[in-house]
Amino acid sequence: MPQITDTVTAESASGFAELARKRYSVRSFSGMKPGREALLRCLEAARLAPSACNAQPWRFIVADEDRLAAALAPVCTLKGSKLNRFVSEAPVIVAVTEESPNLTSFFGSLFKNRPLHLIDIGIAAEHFCLQAAEEGLGTCMLGWFDERAVQKLLRVPRGKRVALLIAVGYPAKEGVPEKRRKDIGEMSSWDRY
Ligand SMILES: Cc1cc2nc3c(=O)[nH]c(=O)nc-3n(C[C@H](O)[C@H](O)[C@H](O)COP(=O)(O)O)c2cc1C
Repeated sequence: MPQITDTVTAESASGFAELARKRYSVRSFSGMKPGREALLRCLEAARLAPSACNAQPWRFIVADEDRLAAALAPVCTLKGSKLNRFVSEAPVIVAVTEESPNLTSFFGSLFKNRPLHLIDIGIAAEHFCLQAAEEGLGTCMLGWFDERAVQKLLRVPRGKRVALLIAVGYPAKEGVPEKRRKDIGEMSSWDRY
């Protein structure tokens, strides 16, 4: 079996590899609020993301008003559980909406039964999060939230879906927790499946 067994050590990481290692899901934020300049650089990184047929089927709504971020936090939780409770510490919450793809991307998705627009949004969201890590900011993508409540709070037009939220703020703690990941050999192979 053409297994990949090579490993990359953290010590050999630099540049982008170090940034990829540094980004993690931050679930505890300091009280400090990120400035709009840093957030703009994150948006610029997202703007430059690739997308199928260059459709760019996303819009980033940056909720940095204190009252708005505070109102969004409870709609990300699950009553009676601890799920996403930490979001109440996040000074900024970004919503990524699904925008209409162009015709070529739309038909590509349809004929090939592949949700290209969601792949695009994932890539753009990760560009945002990686730039945030570069800025010293912490992020956590959120897939669990009350979509209707988010739509209402952010005045997203009816029928337009919110694909993802991103909690943003400065991490309360320093350091990067250990990454729990599959080994390279488990998640990749040379030449054959
Ligand atoms: C699409 C997506 C949705 C996620 N939703 C949540 C969420 O609702 N709550 C949460 O605490 N983490 C969420 N996460 C974060 C993952 O749990 C996290 O990325 C994963 O455990 C790997 O850890 P790391 O990001 O610290 O490297 C989500 C991540 C992604 C990519």
